Order: sequence, then structure tokens, then C-alpha cells
Amino acid sequence: MTMSSSSPRTVLVTGAGGGMAAGINARLAAAGHRVLCADVSGEGSERAAQAVRDAGGRADAFTVDVGDSSSVRALREEVARAAVDVDVLVNAAGILDRKFLVDHDDSSFERTIAVNLVGPFRMIQAFSPGMISRGWGRIINISSIAGVTGYAYPSYAASKAGLSNLTRSLVIDLWGTGVTVNSICPGVVDTPMVIDAVREQIPRKVPTEEIIDPAEIGALAAFLISDEACNINGANLVIDGGATSYFQLFDRP
Ligand SMILES: NC(=O)c1ccc[n+]([C@@H]2O[C@H](COP(=O)([O-])OP(=O)(O)OC[C@H]3O[C@@H](n4cnc5c(N)ncnc54)[C@H](O)[C@@H]3O)[C@@H](O)[C@H]2O)c1
Repeated sequence: MTMSSSSPRTVLVTGAGGGMAAGINARLAAAGHRVLCADVSGEGSERAAQAVRDAGGRADAFTVDVGDSSSVRALREEVARAAVDVDVLVNAAGILDRKFLVDHDDSSFERTIAVNLVGPFRMIQAFSPGMISRGWGRIINISSIAGVTGYAYPSYAASKAGLSNLTRSLVIDLWGTGVTVNSICPGVVDTPMVIDAVREQIPRKVPTEEIIDPAEIGALAAFLISDEACNINGANLVIDGGATSYFQLFDRP
């Protein structure tokens, strides 16, 4: 077996028009995988698919609101009509609502949970049966270090903690099926989701003093799809430059 060998797979990426997915789409397409780019923004998914094709890869665009179960079902039917088998699901769609406890209205907390936690669950429900029937599949959830430690914005932290524990729990459901499920828990990745105030803090809060390139997340996703990663299951893989590895009571002297 060669290093990181992997048969060409069909990979469905949600949030495909986003900054992190740009790195995931590009890396997976470069590894020979076909990328199904799905985003709530039709324009975003088209742009993402076009970027893959411009680089010589294979990609198709789909529109889905993962926070709406009927939209997820419609996507499953659209993909089935196109006679495409989804081998790998990457749940990268997510929202960060910068609201504190008292700022949330009657529905804002629930919307974050719907997109960041229920969305991946519905996507897994929709696309894992095909993987199970073919005896092979990979599910990769993009969680966050905000699901590992506490975080300023409670809806986001709760949604990502839920997603990370959903990941662990689904190994039981998927026992013996040939389908593995893992999360990637990034620290600060260079995407439009990151505000300048956070970027400025990186040298004091991240031991590597670096912001993460979306391509690094893509490389980790590509490894999780490879044959060598077949026994990585139920893991929450932190990639954060060391940010969560120490107690941040004081700034580094
Ligand atoms: N950027 C970071 O530092 C960072 C760190 C940890 C985790 N994450 C997670 O990585 C993922 C990608 O984030 P990003 O930084 O690329 O953000 P981004 O805002 O650039 O991309 C998010 C994408 O998700 C799409 N999206 C939003 N709601 C959706 C919905 N209901 N249905 C389908 N698509 C939807 C958006 O249109 C957008 O294209 C998110 O889950 C985020 O929580 C980001």
C-alpha cells in the first residue's frame, strides 16, 4: 500500500461555497475525487464547482439549506435522480452568530443549532444508507475547538460540542458497516468567518503564532478518506496550532 492511497470517491461537501470548503474542495479534487458542492447560496456552490473545474477537477453544484429537513430530503432526491452514489459526506456548512446570552431572541439560538447540529444529523441520515448498502463510507464533520472548550458565543459552542459528541456516538450506529465518522475541530482558519480582532490575537493565543490555511483542513480530510485512515473512527481531530493545549489564564510573558 502506498502512502495515503485512496480510490477516487464521490464527496458531497456542504457549505461548499465557504472559505474552509475552498481548501477542502481543491485538495479532494486534486486527489482525484469528484466533488459535489452544496451550499445554501446557489451562486456560492456554482462558484465553488467552477473553481474545481477550472483547476482540472470534477465537480457539480447543488443548493441546500441544511437547517431545513425538507431541503435536505430534496437534495437527497436530486442526487438520487442524477444516479450519483455519495461515498463521502463532509459537513462543513456552519454559521457563527455573535450573540451573548441576553442578545438571543426566540429563534436565533435554535437557528444555530438547526444549521450546525441538526443539519449534519439530517445529512448523515440522508446519505449514510447508501454508504452502508455499499459497505464503505466516510463522514467528516467540521466541528470546532469551540466545541472542545467553552467559547464566548453560547449557541455556536453548544452546537459544535453537540456535533463532536454526535460524531462519537454514531460509531455505535455505524458499527460493522464499513462507514466511519470523524470530526475535524479547527482553531482559527483563514476564512471570512474570522474577524480582524481575532486575527490580531493569534500571536498571543496560538503557540504556532499562525492562522490555519484552509488547505491544511483539506489535507486532513483527504487523509481521512485514504485507506490508511480506515481505523480512525469517532475521533475529534484538533488542528489549532496548540491553542487549546494550555490554560489561558495569563498571556504568554
Ligand atoms: N473559520 C474558522 O476559523 C473556523 C474554525 C472552526 C470551525 N469552523 C467551521 O468551519 C465550517 C466552515 O466555516 P468557514 O470558516 O468556511 O465559514 P464561511 O462563512 O466562509 O462558510 C460557511 C458556508 O456555509 C454556508 N452555509 C451557511 N448556512 C448554510 C445552510 N443552512 N445550509 C447550507 N450551507 C450553509 C455559507 O453559505 C458558506 O458558504 C463551519 O462549520 C464553521 O463553523 C470555522
